[in-house]
Amino acid sequence: MTAKIHVGIALPGSKDELSLSSKLLIDCFSQHKCNVTKLKLRNIDIIASKDKINISSTGAALEPFDVFINRHNVLDRREHDFAVARLIEDTSKVVLNPLSKSFFTHNKFHANSLLQNFGIPIPKIYKPGLNYNSDDIIETIGLPLILKANTGNQGKGVVYIDNKLSLISIIDCLINLNEDFFLQEFVLEAAADCPRAVLIGGELIAAYGRSSKKDDFRAKLKDGKFGGFMKISEKDQEVFKKIYKLTELDILGIDFCVTDHGIKIIEVNAYPGLGNIYKASGLNLAENFYQHAINRLQIKT
Ligand SMILES: Nc1ncnc2c1ncn2[C@@H]1O[C@H](COP(=O)(O)OP(=O)(O)OP(=O)(O)O)[C@@H](O)[C@H]1O
Ligand SMILES: [Mg+2]
Repeated sequence: MTAKIHVGIALPGSKDELSLSSKLLIDCFSQHKCNVTKLKLRNIDIIASKDKINISSTGAALEPFDVFINRHNVLDRREHDFAVARLIEDTSKVVLNPLSKSFFTHNKFHANSLLQNFGIPIPKIYKPGLNYNSDDIIETIGLPLILKANTGNQGKGVVYIDNKLSLISIIDCLINLNEDFFLQEFVLEAAADCPRAVLIGGELIAAYGRSSKKDDFRAKLKDGKFGGFMKISEKDQEVFKKIYKLTELDILGIDFCVTDHGIKIIEVNAYPGLGNIYKASGLNLAENFYQHAINRLQIKT
């Protein structure tokens, strides 16, 4: 009899209740007879003694995992979780979306700069410093423009600005609060309608339309509308593949828009949620993710 595959899943959020996305992942790996351990990194102790470091959950040492899935956004300001995740990564055979790769999406401005340097089409970006010049901003990226919090904010960090007075007062306010942000050219085609492509192991699994709810320009499935699955041209698939090569993220959600000059990349997400697309269409990406995990494990062992 072959040993069960031991899978550790670090869960996001501080609540005990599981998100649909986490449930789908856990159910899928369990149905495939894996031994699944759910981890709240916050609850795990690290015990360093003379010559070794133990990671323990409620007193019991954690056994090394065959597959470790870091669904928790550990890069969100939690040093404890970060330290625990790193130690678990070190002892796991296969790590999906390791911290070293997830860094890519953590700092949105940096991610955009890397995409641009890699020849991937993005809207113009501008990061104002303390002595910023509003006329230069408007000349460079135009009005209206978009202001974005530099880290993920679950859709609540994207602001539409259509005049110079708002631009100056919002920038001053954020600088005063010491908040990190950047500005982006407004792309009409991305407003209210912004499809997402999901890549697993570098393969395009699905691309689908997402629109905003009424009186909003921020498209997302959570409270917006599903726009159906899309066919992606070879040329655009090449763009997605390039992003995979750059990020090497095992699972990747690429938000993009289609303009007269081709596609533009709006945002790259590590771990796009699996729940909203499942609710909207019945597509269960957890199954593709499982297959990918097994492929990686087989290559390794
Ligand atoms: N430059 C832009 N021009 C027009 N609309 C934009 C632009 N950038 C973003 N949007 C709209 O806002 C939505 C949310 O933007 P984005 O994907 O960058 O952030 P987010 O999904 O809210 O971020 P996160 O999930 O990291 O919190 C997009 O789906 C798109 O509809
Ligand atoms: Mg997005």
